[in-house]
This record gives sequence, C-alpha cells and structure tokens, in this order.
Amino acid sequence: KQFRKIIGRSYIPPKFAFGFGQSRWGYTTAEDFKEVVQKHRDAHIPLDMLYMDIDYMEEYKDFTVNQKNFPDFKAFVDDIQSQHVHPVPIIDAGVKVQDGYDVYEEGKEKGYFCKRADGTDFEATVWPGWTHFPDVLNPEARAWFGSKYETLISKGIDGFWNDMNEPAIFYSREGLKELKDYLAEFINTEPTDSVSAEFHYHADSLSNNPKDYGRFYHNINGEMICHEKVHNLFGFNMTRAASEAFEKICPSKRILLFSRSSYIGMHRYGGIWTGDNKSWWSHILLNLKMLPSLNMCGFLYVGADLGGFGDNTTRDLLLRWLALGVFTPLMRNHAALGTRDQEFYRFENPEDFRHVIGVRYRLIPYLYSEYMKAALQDDMYFKPLAFEYPEDSFAPQVEDQLMLGNEIMIAPVYTQNALGRYVYLPEEMMFVKFMPDGTITTETLAPGHHYVSVALNEVPLFIRKGKCIPVAHTAEYTDAIDYNTIEYIGYPEASYDLYNDDGITPLP
Ligand code: GLC
Repeated sequence: KQFRKIIGRSYIPPKFAFGFGQSRWGYTTAEDFKEVVQKHRDAHIPLDMLYMDIDYMEEYKDFTVNQKNFPDFKAFVDDIQSQHVHPVPIIDAGVKVQDGYDVYEEGKEKGYFCKRADGTDFEATVWPGWTHFPDVLNPEARAWFGSKYETLISKGIDGFWNDMNEPAIFYSREGLKELKDYLAEFINTEPTDSVSAEFHYHADSLSNNPKDYGRFYHNINGEMICHEKVHNLFGFNMTRAASEAFEKICPSKRILLFSRSSYIGMHRYGGIWTGDNKSWWSHILLNLKMLPSLNMCGFLYVGADLGGFGDNTTRDLLLRWLALGVFTPLMRNHAALGTRDQEFYRFENPEDFRHVIGVRYRLIPYLYSEYMKAALQDDMYFKPLAFEYPEDSFAPQVEDQLMLGNEIMIAPVYTQNALGRYVYLPEEMMFVKFMPDGTITTETLAPGHHYVSVALNEVPLFIRKGKCIPVAHTAEYTDAIDYNTIEYIGYPEASYDLYNDDGITPLP
C-alpha cells in the first residue's frame, strides 16, 4: 500500500469495460464486425466491446481506416454503438514509412521519430513493413502522437488497445544486413561441426534482437538517450501519450485503454492484457498466478486472451478459462489469425457460454464496486491467500486460488477432464455455484481441504464467513444491468457497502 501510494492511483476505466468483449485477429470488413455483434445479440450472449485488430486499418497505418472496407466509418461506429457495443481499435507502435502518409510526413519533418546515432530515423519492420518509432519519451513527440488518437475519437471511438509497443521489431536495416553478410560468408565456407547451431543463432536473431535496441535513441529534453537504457519505458510512454491526450480531447469522459508492453507507473494511464498466450491448459493457471503480481504493481485493469491466442482452443478449455475470466476486470475472448474459430456461437450448446458470460453480468455490481474500492484505496483487487491469512499454516502455499475484493475467494478448475477440484479454506466459507438453469446453490463448508464438484457450465465462488455480495439479474450489456433488483447472497447477518457511480465521469 505504501508503494502503491507513492506510484499513484490506478487507472479507472469506464464501466462498460467491465462487460464482455469479443476479439479476433482476422475480422476485416465492416460486415465481418457487424456479423459478430449480430450473432452475439441473436444468441443472447452479452457483449459490450468489439475489438478491432490491425485489419481495420489501411495497410496497417496507425490512425487510418480502410476506405474500401469502411466507406463510412462514423456510420459504422454509430451502428455498432446503437447496439450498446463499443468498437475498440488497436494502435501499433510502428508508424509506416510511406510518402504522403500524414503521420509519417509530420513525424519526419518535426524530428519526432527515434533516431540512429548518426541522426537519421531508425527503421525496423513490423506489420506495416518498414516503420519508424515515435519518440514517446520526448514530451513534444509524445503530445504529438497522442493528439493523433483524436482522428478516431472524433468518429465516436471511446476505447483503444496499444500493441507491439516493446517496441516489437521483426528486423532492422542493420540486422538484415548483418544476416545477409553472414549468409554470404556461409555460402562460401566449408561447413564445420558447429555450423548448424551458429546458423540457427543468426537466422533466429533477427526479431526483437537486443542489439537493435542499442541502435536507436530518444531525445529526452535535448539529451540523446540510447533506447536500451529506457527500453521498458517505451510501451509505458506510448500509453501515457494516449492518456494525456484524452484528458485534452475529452476531459469529461473515461476512455478504455490498455497496453501490451508496460512498466511500473503506466498503471496510472491504462490497463494491460497479458499478451500472446496459447490455448494451453497450463496457461489458465499462469493467468491466475500473474493477477496478484500485476495488482501489486498497480495494474488493476488486467486480463488475458481468454481461450488462448495461439493454437487451437477446445470447447472445454474455453469454458474453464471463462470461469476464471468472469472475475478479471478485462474479460476478452481473443485469438490469432489462422487458429480455429473461437466465438462462443461457433460451439455446440452455445447456451453454456451464454450462461457463463451471463454470470459475469450478474456479478458486475460487485466486481466494479471492489475494483473501485481497490483503485481508490491503493489496494489489491486480487490477493494471494497469504495476504489475508498470513498466520495460517497452509494458506501461504496455495497458488491456485485467489481472494477477490473483501468478500470472496475464487478457485477455478484448470485441468482437462476434471469434474471438480480440491480447494483449501482457511476459514469457514459459503460455497456458491451459479447453475446453468439460473439458480444459485450455496453450501457452508468447514475450514480445511475439500473436493468440490464443478461442471463445465457452472461458475463457482466462495463467500467468506460473515460476508455477502450483491448479485444482479443478468443483462446483455452493462447499461442494462438493473441496480434496483439486486439481491444479496451470503451470510444472512452480513451487510455490503456497494460502490457505484455513472461509470463514465472521470474521478477527480
Ligand atoms: C500481436 C498482439 C495480438 C494481435 C496481433 C495482430 O501479436 O499481441 O493481440 O492480435 O499482434 O495485431
């Protein structure tokens, strides 16, 4: 708490950001995106956000929209938003090198891109091909890059995800030359025993090579600072650029913002998602373990690509992962290009997915309330058991359960074919299950070890002794959650202090 107080208050997203968001790398045309919304609404699967990956852009150029696929982008945004869904476009770090592209031309003219030691603009390839990196550590360049978000905000956009901002490098001019030189030499030399290892080393060293991070510089108040000294601050400052610009562009509105790369301090400007995971069972547990660590660093608005980004998901993996994702502030289904379809309505018995996402919406009053309390009190939203029960002999060993807020504990199932799992209760708790028929079962369990059964389409949680939580009726989007019909479940004598606000006005 002392550390958190020093580093400043955590980012507070709009309330709609606590809804569910659908994403996939590969949606390209306005029709693709509209279909995703339509299919969620048709199947009554709640939806608040529609993420727009790189293909909405013109040749992956930041702050552009493909004219052919979106002849009237404003009308597209209005249409999606009229269905209570927020389109959330991606912004990448690299600015495409292309004559006539305004962001490139302006940045070049004003000297706002990162430079080589000789003063020329550093070049690396990312999705758009050759790019320059905006020097977001230079206050002037940062304000300039941030101001570009207005292009999309003026079309009604109120959320962004910042990506490739380590910055990711496929290869640089220098790296490519080095590889070509090596290959030329290789062709003319007799292979030796060590050649294979050396060959692989050179071929694999092209992307994200630390040598490249030593090849470009930031202009920080007139001083040229080598990127490798400030590497971890790049994603931080890209997100800061956006956030500082939002304060000017739309001071009376919270904007959804999260980043891939980050560092201590960026938690004031946005959240993060945990990057390119895989559709592996082990990654559910990894996701859970990262959450309290991120909270300690101030990152409260966090979440993983549910179902897994790389590789092909399975129905059971997706359902089990969602039963953890129900509790993470950022709840998003995202998958990589080329992987199998991962939208819920693609699977058999989509009603199971509708139910699990529906439980999220029943819990939003509680999750939002606990998020805001954690943010306003420099507290953690997810805590390891050891933080609540430091004297308990077993609790500090538990790494697959988490305390959430002040009232509940979560213990998701993360192994395939399991019918349930073992849980450890440091004190008496009420075991709660949200059943697929809409009912809620409760059972009081004594302290100690228990095996609890949890079917694929059930969502479990545990209420601490003497506590209760608010539960709403489900809704298809956050604005439709009815706070007047909230019921409380848990211990009968308990009371709960519910935080709520309009979800959109920034806090002072
Ligand atoms: C990066 C991002 C991923 C995105 C992809 C294409 O890998 O981490 O989320 O889908 O780029 O933009």
